[in-house]
Amino acid sequence: MKYSDNSYWCNRRTIRKYSDIEVSDSLLNEIIEKASHAPTTGNMQLYSVIVTRDPETLAALYPAHFNQPAATGAPLLLTFCADFNRFCHWCDISDADHGYNNFQSFMTAVIDTVIFTQQFVTIAEREGLGCCYLGTTTYNAPTIAETLQLPERVIPICTISIGWPANEGAISDRLPVSAIIHQEKYHSSTDSEVAQFYAYKESLPESAGFIAENGKKTLAQVFTDIRYNRTNNEHFSRLFYDFIDSHGFPFPKK
Ligand SMILES: Cc1cc2nc3c(=O)[nH]c(=O)nc-3n(C[C@H](O)[C@H](O)[C@H](O)COP(=O)(O)O)c2cc1C
Repeated sequence: MKYSDNSYWCNRRTIRKYSDIEVSDSLLNEIIEKASHAPTTGNMQLYSVIVTRDPETLAALYPAHFNQPAATGAPLLLTFCADFNRFCHWCDISDADHGYNNFQSFMTAVIDTVIFTQQFVTIAEREGLGCCYLGTTTYNAPTIAETLQLPERVIPICTISIGWPANEGAISDRLPVSAIIHQEKYHSSTDSEVAQFYAYKESLPESAGFIAENGKKTLAQVFTDIRYNRTNNEHFSRLFYDFIDSHGFPFPKK
């Protein structure tokens, strides 16, 4: 479905199943070119995107994305990387002494990359393409970097699986806007306000399903104990932290 201007915003949804119809290089390039007009720090464009169509490379990437069907069923994967390599290279050949091998610069490139990625997704979805972010990118960055031969100061941040939708997907719930807006200063919510914010999500039949399937008492426990649990968070934090630290952005040592 190609969206009209007004129907896009409240109807968009992640698509995880794709048809066999090809996503042409010319359309992909056109979307990437449009997305590259997104705001970027100092107009430095501190990002790159690796397009993977080759079945062998795709097969090497799948395990890094835990073989999620949204990855294995896509005709191509796009890996969006925070990239200070190109800019530093330009500085090197321009007699400019750069100081970009640090955490601040890493964050600058990450912000640029995320903005660029989401701009890409918005444009692609409005063209009728289906997209799914793969959060596994920051879990298994070392494997992805090795597969895609990412040099120093190029860190994978977001992966998008993309294709022409094979189904319509479903519109997901969102918190009421009052949960996310704070006028002038941050307003810390009361217990009952927070309970209210999450009440609709908790009332959905699929939430009851998740709770029952996982033998949990609350929906929040499905997040804390199963989906995004402490053990995994700590394990993948160490892996990602060490990778960033050794891949061109050493963290300050105390
Ligand atoms: C950073 C990020 C990582 C995500 N990772 C995954 C993922 O690994 N697998 C997946 O199926 N969906 C993933 N998603 C999609 C979210 O699950 C989805 O956006 C969310 O449930 C809301 O649904 P909607 O996009 O259809 O509104 C991710 C989204 C973001 C922004």
